Amino acid sequence: MATLQDIFGLKGRRALITGSTRGIGAAIAEGLAGAGAHVVVHGTSENAAMAAAESIRSLGGLADPIALDLSVPGAGKRLIDDAEALAGPIDILVVNASAQVNAHLADLTADDLEFQLSVNLKSTVDMLQAVLPRMAERRWGRVVSIGSINQISPKPIVTAYAATKAAQHNIIQSQAREYAQTGVVLNTLAPGLIDTDRNAARKNADPKGWADYCSTVNWMGRAGQSREMVGAAIFLASDACSFMTGETLVLSGGL
Ligand SMILES: NC(=O)c1ccc[n+]([C@@H]2O[C@H](COP(=O)([O-])OP(=O)(O)OC[C@H]3O[C@@H](n4cnc5c(N)ncnc54)[C@H](OP(=O)(O)O)[C@@H]3O)[C@@H](O)[C@H]2O)c1
Repeated sequence: MATLQDIFGLKGRRALITGSTRGIGAAIAEGLAGAGAHVVVHGTSENAAMAAAESIRSLGGLADPIALDLSVPGAGKRLIDDAEALAGPIDILVVNASAQVNAHLADLTADDLEFQLSVNLKSTVDMLQAVLPRMAERRWGRVVSIGSINQISPKPIVTAYAATKAAQHNIIQSQAREYAQTGVVLNTLAPGLIDTDRNAARKNADPKGWADYCSTVNWMGRAGQSREMVGAAIFLASDACSFMTGETLVLSGGL
């Protein structure tokens, strides 16, 4: 009889989770470590990355920190190389870090467009170029790309961000097809509204307006919590996800 450990366990796997110093990425890093993976946590701040790794270690997990700004050209490839130098070959890549600039198309500046393209798209291409051939050589790999419901139903206030998320998923699909016979699968986890620092300014500026917004944003009438993304991420990162590739799991509270 197969145990939960046989199906979902990540013992012996090494996982890099980008943007895992807080929010959804931090919850996923802790979850993957809890399932047995050696995780590399990452963000722009060295102190925050060290604190996130220390927090996982204090819970009995294996974790190493890396700080690197993914808006810098070539940082994606460097991040894979640095993570592998620290932890060994990366079996699981969670593409989670992203830049989001709220602006309607009419107000979108060239710099803001470039920033979102760099962090969300160019660094994803860099990371996939580096990691996919190596995973394929070892005949096992998982890429979990954190998308957004905006890739499916884009809001005008985040036009550029939504477009990068749609493009990111398109690359996940093409590479899922490219690597389909190598033991490497790539999928997208698309969250709806989640209560993280990303939404804190809006929430704190107008708590009543935020509560009203949350009550109508989805069928459940509430924002999700980062921990509610963890089970799906473990599934997509595990042996259980051996016959699913190029797909999107939507965790939105109902749309
Ligand atoms: N929150 C939502 O409602 C929501 C909804 C749909 C999709 N998502 C997606 O879910 C993912 C996580 O969102 P979140 O709300 O948890 O984000 P968050 O709270 O804003 O955290 C962002 C994380 O990404 C890192 N990061 C940001 N810019 C970076 C850069 N240039 N280079 C490297 N790391 C960078 C941050 O590291 P530092 O702290 O070190 O800067 C931090 O660890 C994102 O892909 C987001 O698009 C979120």
